[in-house]
Amino acid sequence: MAYQLIDGKAIAREVRIEVKRRANEFFINTGVKPKLAVILAGDNPASQVYVASKKKACGWVGMESASYEFPSSVSEKEIIDTIYALNEDKSVNGILVQLPLPKHISEENVLRAVSKDKDVDGFHPMNAGELMRKGANLEPCTPAGCIYLLKKAGALLSGANAVVIGRSNIVGKPVAMMLLRENCTVTICHSKTKNLKDYLQNADIVVSAMGRARAITGDMLKKGAYVIDVGINRMEDGTIAGDVDFESAKEVAGAITPVPGGVGPMTIAMLMNNTMIAAEKQYG
Ligand code: GUN
Repeated sequence: MAYQLIDGKAIAREVRIEVKRRANEFFINTGVKPKLAVILAGDNPASQVYVASKKKACGWVGMESASYEFPSSVSEKEIIDTIYALNEDKSVNGILVQLPLPKHISEENVLRAVSKDKDVDGFHPMNAGELMRKGANLEPCTPAGCIYLLKKAGALLSGANAVVIGRSNIVGKPVAMMLLRENCTVTICHSKTKNLKDYLQNADIVVSAMGRARAITGDMLKKGAYVIDVGINRMEDGTIAGDVDFESAKEVAGAITPVPGGVGPMTIAMLMNNTMIAAEKQYG
């Protein structure tokens, strides 16, 4: 069956071009560039790569970025004091704390310290709560990217059966809320779910953020399903694989994102979009 390849790289570029236009307009109106502050603690190699990509994207869209990098021995207080200073700094519009944090630091305490209006990851409990009620001003980037891709690919969301695999605060829970807002009937599956295939067989929309390489195969999917693969699994040979076995899934799916080049670029594009939203709001 012919399937639609959902080109996240190209769609993310479109989003970044629009942000670039708004950033330029913002600069003309205010005389300053929007600015994102990124906090990175520890030496997680993947986090270092993500932070470098986020800073590069800022430059691309015409925003400033500043990074605050700490060794893994950094104290919780040091990080929270840095956040408090950034909350007060009028030149900073967005603050992002790259996760995971070193084990001795409370993620909850750190995320709560970020000003709700500069919380471009949408992880503050206030923004997470607003997402559940009426939609938040700043919503998590990866879930927002998934919804953007589904709409762009032409998925009919209202009334569709959507299965989300994974229940994290970063992806699974917020994307489930967003799909519900689009009038999907949403099922959240996770590591303790029995017979995942039973749920997938009836799913018009699949968003997988389980973190298990190629665990979803074509025989598990409903014919014509829209499949969004959030998984980034590093294989022994150094390559990256998604949660979905692309080769077998593409024979059954109606539309599918590749890994890499699917959701990944969208996360960063939506981060730029959120930073723009935060800056525009702060300047009224
Ligand atoms: N770690 C994994 N995903 C994310 C994300 O979207 N934002 C941040 N800050 N850290 C992450």
